[in-house]
This record gives sequence, structure tokens and C-alpha cells, in this order.
Amino acid sequence: MGRALAFRARYVDVKPRLSFARLSRRQLIAASIAGWMGNGLAQQAGPPHDIARSKTAIPPLKSLARFPLGCCIARPYLREAAYETLLLQQFSQVTAEWEMKMNQVLGDDGTYRFEAPDALVDFARRAGLALHGHALIWFKHAPVGIARLDGGGAAFERAYDDHIAGLVGRYRGRLRGWDVINEPIQPDGEGLRVSLFSRNLGDEAHMARAFEVARQADPDAVLFLNDYDLEMKPEKRRAFLRLVERLLARGVPLGGLGTQSHLSLAMRPGAARQALADLAGFGLPIHVSELDISLGRHRLDGAELAGARAGQARILEEVLNAFHDLPPAQQYAITFWGLRDADSWWRKPPLNRAHDEPVLFDDGGGAKKLAETAAASLARAR
Ligand code: XIL
Repeated sequence: MGRALAFRARYVDVKPRLSFARLSRRQLIAASIAGWMGNGLAQQAGPPHDIARSKTAIPPLKSLARFPLGCCIARPYLREAAYETLLLQQFSQVTAEWEMKMNQVLGDDGTYRFEAPDALVDFARRAGLALHGHALIWFKHAPVGIARLDGGGAAFERAYDDHIAGLVGRYRGRLRGWDVINEPIQPDGEGLRVSLFSRNLGDEAHMARAFEVARQADPDAVLFLNDYDLEMKPEKRRAFLRLVERLLARGVPLGGLGTQSHLSLAMRPGAARQALADLAGFGLPIHVSELDISLGRHRLDGAELAGARAGQARILEEVLNAFHDLPPAQQYAITFWGLRDADSWWRKPPLNRAHDEPVLFDDGGGAKKLAETAAASLARAR
């Protein structure tokens, strides 16, 4: 049995049959989808989204996507074997949810702790997962280790450069790309964020500098500007696009655009497609970098819950289909922000949406109907 088949047999509940060996990978996927869609149809006793959990095994999503399919991970989750199994079964790329952020790696005294990011990088290498780096400069994280140099001129500059060069250089050649500047735009698009970094190094100058230093440290990594609400707030998207234009005009080595895509049911149909088309206008690789679709703050039941899940599925389909329609060279990856609902940041403090179900797999790791929707969209798009 070939490695690919052994893999399928292990993860997809498909008993390998000899005849599979004669099928192309494409035929194999098509056959498995057909069987699984057939089951789906047989189940349709009630409204299509009345059951959250799929009764059928889905094919590995990563085998259906023609671009890297990512998920955020964090070290504590990896202690659970079931987590790792599901992750490896479904995804081909990972982003560290915390471990590479400035507040995690930089100690108060300005020294660095690389143990956790090193462990994740090693894990990804052993598992054959691609890796995306997140996030070098984020207005939210101004830890003591660098804040103590506020106003310090050259000392601040040195610490800033060292942070970027230290992380990017350490993993040179091992990460596909980095979110160099995370969340540069004010919440409603009213200009640029003010931060420790912008105050010390200039609004756009600190961004340009970060990209330059990162480029030096790993010339092959794709360097991203990443932000949220680019779909739901057109004003914010316009401000983001104007910033991209200015940075490119001044020769900044900005190599990709990330749209976090923390989406909600309030999103107008077509908004995600429009956002992806607008972002893609620069011809740069696009990363849907933190995809999840929240059902909202409150617990829903009955018809309301079914309606919300149906809306969620429509949004996911729109994102996947619109991403698929980008030129292949611009499809950097789609990354989900959370493997199982229970792992999602929406469930945890300070957001505390205890009943939310923003991602593809349920608390127990079962494929939800939403995961079936993802599989169907990805399969159709091949
Ligand atoms: C979030 C994590 O998911 C949380 O666990 C953490 O406490 C805070 O950060 N935008 C980003 C991500 O760029 O890094 C954030 O991740 C979610 C919003």
C-alpha cells in the first residue's frame, strides 16, 4: 500500500481497496466525495443545517485544497494526541497562536525565550507542516522588554531591529512567511494605529523599517501586512489599501497581504468576495490568515440556531469560492483560527462566548456540517 493510501486509510475511515491503486489521485478524491455527498443527501430529513455534526467522515480537507490549508496551533494543545491526529489529518500549514508574539518571546530584561517557538518549529518540521510566522510588530504588544527603551532613540531602534532580525533570522528558510506588521489600521479606518513603535520610529517609517529588517534576515520569506475587518468595514479596507499603495511606492519589500477574516453573521453577502478581489488588485499573494465565523454573543436554539449555522455556511462558501477564484500564484493559504470550537479564542477570556461555534470541528473533534461545507466547496473548486 502506497504511503498516500495508508494515510487515507488511517485518517478517513476509507478501507483501502486494491482497485484504488489504479485510480489517479483526482479520481480517488472525486470518488470519495461522491460517496460522502451521497450520504449527506440521504441524511436530509430536516432543514439542511439542523444537525451541527456531520455523520460521515470527511476527506482530509488539505487533500481537497490546491493551496496550503492552515490552522493556528499552540503548544498546550499539542499535548493531546487526538488534537494532533486531527490537525495532521486535515491541515497542511500552521501558525503559532501565541508563541512567536513579542509578549511571549521577549523577557522584561530584554532577553529572549525561544524554547516555545523552537518547539513549534520542530513539531512542524517533524510533521511535514508548512509554517507561517505571526506576528513581529503588533500595536497591542509593547512588553516591558522594549517599552523600557521608550524615547531612547538609538537604543530603541536597536531593540526593534534585533527583535525582528532575531526571530526571522532564527527560523530563516523554515517559515514560508511572516506577518511583519499586524493590525496597522485604526478600527474604523480612521488612519494608522498609534503605538510604542510608531511614536518612536514614525507612523509608516516603523513599518518600512520592519519589512527591511525582515527581508535582510530571510530574503525568501513572504512578508505580510495583516489586518482584520477588511471585509466588513469597507472604509477600513480602503485605508489598508492606501497604506499598501504608499508602502509599495516607497519600495518597501512588502510581499503579501493578510486578511484575518474574523467574520460574523452581520457580514453582507458579497463583502468577502469584494474584499479579496480588492486586495488581490496589487498582484501580491493573499493570506486569509485567521478565518473563523462567530455565531455571536448569545446562546441560540432551534430555528434561530439552524438559521445562524446556515448563514455561517454561506459565508464560508463565499470565502472559499472567492479565494479559489484568485490566480493560483496569489493563493498563499487559508488559515483557520482554531482547530475545534473548544479551542477557539471566541470561547475564552476576555471574549467568553461560551456557546459560540466558529470553526470546522466540534469540541470533541468531530467534523461539523460546516466542515462538510468546506469539503464540498474545496472539492467543487478543484
Ligand atoms: C489571539 C489569540 O487567539 C488569543 O488566544 C490571544 O489571547 C490573543 O490573540 N488578531 C490576531 C491574533 O492577529 O493574534 C489574535 O489571536 C486574534 C486577533
